Amino acid sequence: MRTRTQVGIVGGGPAGLLLSHLLALRGIDSILVEIRSREYCEARQRAGVLEDGSVALLRAAGLADRLDRQGLVHGGIYLQFDGQRRHVDFRDLTGGRTVTVYAQTEVVKDLIARRLADGGALEFSVSDTKVTDLDTDRPLLRYTDAAGERHEVVCDAIAGCDGFHGVCRPSIPPGVLSTWERDYPYAWLGILADVPPSTDELIYAHHETGFALHSLRTPAISRLYLQVAPDEDIAAWPDERIWAELARRFELPGWTLQQGPILDKGITPMRSFVSAPMRYGRLFLAGDAAHIVPPTGAKGLNLALADVAALAAALDALLHGDEQAAADYSASCLDRVWRSTHFSWWLTTTLHRTPGADEMETQLQLSQLRYVVSSRAAATSLAENYTGFPVQLTEGRGRGC
Ligand code: DHB
Repeated sequence: MRTRTQVGIVGGGPAGLLLSHLLALRGIDSILVEIRSREYCEARQRAGVLEDGSVALLRAAGLADRLDRQGLVHGGIYLQFDGQRRHVDFRDLTGGRTVTVYAQTEVVKDLIARRLADGGALEFSVSDTKVTDLDTDRPLLRYTDAAGERHEVVCDAIAGCDGFHGVCRPSIPPGVLSTWERDYPYAWLGILADVPPSTDELIYAHHETGFALHSLRTPAISRLYLQVAPDEDIAAWPDERIWAELARRFELPGWTLQQGPILDKGITPMRSFVSAPMRYGRLFLAGDAAHIVPPTGAKGLNLALADVAALAAALDALLHGDEQAAADYSASCLDRVWRSTHFSWWLTTTLHRTPGADEMETQLQLSQLRYVVSSRAAATSLAENYTGFPVQLTEGRGRGC
């Protein structure tokens, strides 16, 4: 079947879903296709820390009802190293900036519910997605829907929001993109546990047996991570071993890690990746399709949301005959992308133990951590990067936002 839309969106993660909503607010129609099922997208565990700029963006887009009720505002984090746990106070250091703990899965559920309530075209469980004719002003999005029917959608522009392994970036001809990449020699084993968090704010722990992070989802549900080997077999980590290792890495006199049933467990690889430009002809890349950060610092979701805020404005301009914003889209995102790429790399390499590293690495890391908790300038740099930089909120030409 041959159909027509203004923007074809590939990928039903937070980037694609938010873009379809922001475009709808501007009176621009879109079709979003996603290879996974709705249930899968809503259950996928990811990070859960929103920068102030992301919260402001979701609020301005009318998407923050549940976020404002259930999100947990945090004014700092703890850094644990060398047998001490020290608080870094973001509010004090940055003139009041905070982060909000609200899981990516909840953002996705809110976005899907809203798009469906507004009559948005979301196609889950599609297959054989292809994007072609990208260097013309009528790019094509082809896919097979869940019922097996083949579709060809004639678009004005296509947004590739389909993640690192998606089809959009590889559809750009060879030689167009520059890429920068770094793999890390470790991974994270993450658990969701049915137990109230043992801390009021997140704990990032440097330990001789590896990094650990105590995060949370709600006042009743904890989220914790352990540094493990990149090829770690999850079967080697029965629940008792996970809790024992977490207790060891967070150990502090007078403090106890509360344990409870583990609801979900998974291993997350760690990679830094940037490709540029984030555009080829009428194909625009956003979020993980264009860049990946390691999870330390929880920047991935925030970067994706900031990309699509810029992309919605650029597409609105393009569809009204103004090419300049589309031409500027990539450069307008890449400053933030590289800042977060650097920060995530820095926080990762400061806190993790590199297999085979000598004692020199450990001493350099500990010196840096002592510096962060004793110098206001160093602490402010961490606080500013962690809480993030403002996101451009622009007025639509159509019906608003
Ligand atoms: C979470 C994940 C992170 O990578 C991080 O730095 C902080 C929190 C989380 O899943 O809650």
